[in-house]
Amino acid sequence: MENTKYVLVTGGAGFIGSHTCVELIESGYMPVIIDNLSNSKIESLARLKKITGVDIPFYQEDVRNREALDMILDKYPCVAAIHFAGYKAVGESVAKPIEYYQNNLGCTLTLCEALTAHNVKRVVFSSSATVYREGDEVPLKEEYELGCTNPYGWTKYMSEQMFRDLCVADKEWSAVLLRYFNPIGAHKSGIIGEEPNGIPNNLMPYVAKVANGELKELRVFGNDYDTVDGTGVRDYIHVVDLAKAHVLAIGYACENTGAVAINVGTGRGYSVLEVVAAFEKATGQAVPYAIVDRRPGDLAEVVASPEKASALLGFKAQYGIDDMCEDAWRFEHNLNK
Ligand code: WQD
Repeated sequence: MENTKYVLVTGGAGFIGSHTCVELIESGYMPVIIDNLSNSKIESLARLKKITGVDIPFYQEDVRNREALDMILDKYPCVAAIHFAGYKAVGESVAKPIEYYQNNLGCTLTLCEALTAHNVKRVVFSSSATVYREGDEVPLKEEYELGCTNPYGWTKYMSEQMFRDLCVADKEWSAVLLRYFNPIGAHKSGIIGEEPNGIPNNLMPYVAKVANGELKELRVFGNDYDTVDGTGVRDYIHVVDLAKAHVLAIGYACENTGAVAINVGTGRGYSVLEVVAAFEKATGQAVPYAIVDRRPGDLAEVVASPEKASALLGFKAQYGIDDMCEDAWRFEHNLNK
């Protein structure tokens, strides 16, 4: 226990959280997971043990449970925290705004109180490209003025602001606000990956289920955008690259104070049809699709400027779209073996 570099990982049983726990262990840290399993499965822990050989300390608790956080932080002297826990479905947030504000902001507030009380004043926060305004020129830069179009995005914006204000009030605090673009793919082992509950909202898990025959065809939400082929363009980043960015961010948070927002993307956008073509080429699996109406709230193009991540974290995405497709398919295929 002594000299172990513990990192509290809220939502660590989830898609990005579990991949980050693997990279934390490989970099000499020991994650301690608190997760209420509202959007993840207990199987994640056994899968993580299979990959890492480690029994990661795990607490099935809500991050709004202050007593649980105090108990964990009393037991494990953490060097920092990574805050993933939160609801993340854009459409659902429009239908259930109060649940999203109560959960996502409540988790952030309680976490900040508990971390401060235990003198753990370094956090890496799971923010999102949804904090950028519609119509902003791509590639999106961190210094742009922010503005959201849905309650989910506002919870990320407001949580960022909480961390910024905390760093102003207490100069010992350090907060790295990672703005994710579109994380896809899976660990090379095929043991962990993206496993949304029910019918997937996001493109890649939906494509994978069409490829394995579980869903009939991909509905392409509009082909009349002002893009290379009319379909939506996004900056897809391999989830393992994203996980590695979190480990670099922990190092940065331990060496610096203050709040800093950093994009985590590749700087390269792909359209929906380009992703479909890449997936078919990488996996040999057909992905039938039909063009349908646009999805309300979708933007034409969302691509990151990756410059600040490179300058401050020394981060550069290593995996390309073929890896992302191959790895996503391996995980989906393993699920249905
Ligand atoms: C990607 C592209 C769709 C599904 C969302 C959240 C964002 C972040 C990532 C949390 C778009 C098209 C999709 C389908 C399709 N999550 N598409 N058919 O919307 O860029 O971002 O997930 O932080 O906050 O907003 O990702 O994968 O849903 O869509 O044509 O069945 O694929 O129109 O162009 P999105 P996505």
